[in-house]
Amino acid sequence: MAKELTCKPVLLKIAPDLEIKEAIELCSCALENGAQGIVATNTTIDYSLLPNAKDFGGISGKVLCEKSFVMFEALAKEFFGKTTLISVGGIDSADEAYRRLKAGASLIQIYSAFIFKGPSLNREINLGILERMKRDGFNHISEVIGSDRR
Ligand SMILES: Cc1cc2nc3c(=O)[nH]c(=O)nc-3n(C[C@H](O)[C@H](O)[C@H](O)COP(=O)(O)O)c2cc1C
Repeated sequence: MAKELTCKPVLLKIAPDLEIKEAIELCSCALENGAQGIVATNTTIDYSLLPNAKDFGGISGKVLCEKSFVMFEALAKEFFGKTTLISVGGIDSADEAYRRLKAGASLIQIYSAFIFKGPSLNREINLGILERMKRDGFNHISEVIGSDRR
């Protein structure tokens, strides 16, 4: 269905506040109807993550990290190898980027961490990923992606 509306790739972006079962059902439906990938996750409205938070919108950044990872990993267990997976939510270091790649992300997105760490974060993360690949005996990034799923 997506292909009838646009020739551009359409990806579904998932909220981390959904039940895992609901998220899997939504993604399955989107993929059956022509979506070409899943992006997990958006911001959260779980205000219990921040002391004194006011309900003014979605929460992003470090406090979102684990919640986002849990959702991403659950979706990766279901959809890795079947579609393109993009991981986002609280990523601010090479360790976290590497964890998302191993969990099944072909791409990662960084948003909030750029505000706190600046654009040099890209280089820091890329070099950090290369160091970790060397440490773990990976020769190519494609070997890293989804290595926890195999
Ligand atoms: C100010 C702000 C604006 C955002 N606008 C969008 C948007 O227009 N579309 C979208 O898909 N996600 C949007 N997001 C969500 C981010 O793309 C990202 O999924 C989320 O912030 C979690 O990543 P992070 O922890 O690295 O910030 C926005 C986030 C923030 C903080």
